[in-house]
Amino acid sequence: MTTTSDEFTVMVGRLNRLSVERHFDAYADIGWDDPALALDPVDPRFELPAVDPLRHTDWYRRQGPPERARLGCYRWAACMKTGWHFENLLQRGLLRHAFELGNGAPEFRYLHHEIIEESQHTLMFQEFVNRSGLPVRGMPWVLRRLAEWFVVPLARVFPTLFFLFVLGGEDPVDHLQRRVLSDADTTLHPLVERIMRIHTTEEARHLSFARHYLQRTVPELGFIRRLHLAIIAPLVLGIMARLMLQPSGDLVRHCGIPRDVVRSANRSRAGRQLLKDSVAKTRTLIVELGLVTPASKSLWKAVGLWDDAR
Ligand SMILES: [Fe+2]
Ligand SMILES: [Fe+2]
Repeated sequence: MTTTSDEFTVMVGRLNRLSVERHFDAYADIGWDDPALALDPVDPRFELPAVDPLRHTDWYRRQGPPERARLGCYRWAACMKTGWHFENLLQRGLLRHAFELGNGAPEFRYLHHEIIEESQHTLMFQEFVNRSGLPVRGMPWVLRRLAEWFVVPLARVFPTLFFLFVLGGEDPVDHLQRRVLSDADTTLHPLVERIMRIHTTEEARHLSFARHYLQRTVPELGFIRRLHLAIIAPLVLGIMARLMLQPSGDLVRHCGIPRDVVRSANRSRAGRQLLKDSVAKTRTLIVELGLVTPASKSLWKAVGLWDDAR
């Protein structure tokens, strides 16, 4: 499925309207000082959600309730810090992209709605981290530097690839949040729930923009750029999905989780399926755009993201 430039303009207009009608402020719309939302890292509602493969390990079950809750709270805080590191890079890329646009470009206004929303997300994520008091690190240092040097500049020189990175970060997070919010077996801390509901509402627009951007621009690309996308897509998604979904190194160290427990949770049937499902929408889009070649399909399989069942 592709998008013509007229359809793209209509879609961007709709996203602009929705951004004005339904948006959130990190401080006005979250009752940070409401006692019902008080953040205590040993609150049992911080225990890991059922969708997390680590929750189903014997090691996790053997921990006492305060240790399990603390680990779960660290997990949320770590996700939020990684989330805003990603959003910070994304905002810089969107600004670079907007910097190059001419008068009347349909996406100019929407890019700024998205940048503003990502700033609000960054504020709410860091506020949660501060209130947890936990020493979460976010994205590994090397990845942060590599992304600054090589991914942010793509927004100007190869914006289609930049928006593929955007999908690589946003799609797995969105998938995880929707699974957690709709899971009857998970009792969520109300502060985490509030943050996730705000985030999924606004991220739906960001994902829609990035998907339509690819649908509009990929058909116009030449052979070499399409080949680049076909090869890079599974690698980008393989790294990004793991970064967003799997326990971070500082979490493992801080909570003293044995490495083999983390490895077996990640490699469990549920862990591998979660990874595949988390990129399902982007994978379908890449297939529809004709960017899966026989050679790139083996890369999708090698990074554990190809799903023959779907
Ligand atoms: Fe966000
Ligand atoms: Fe976003």
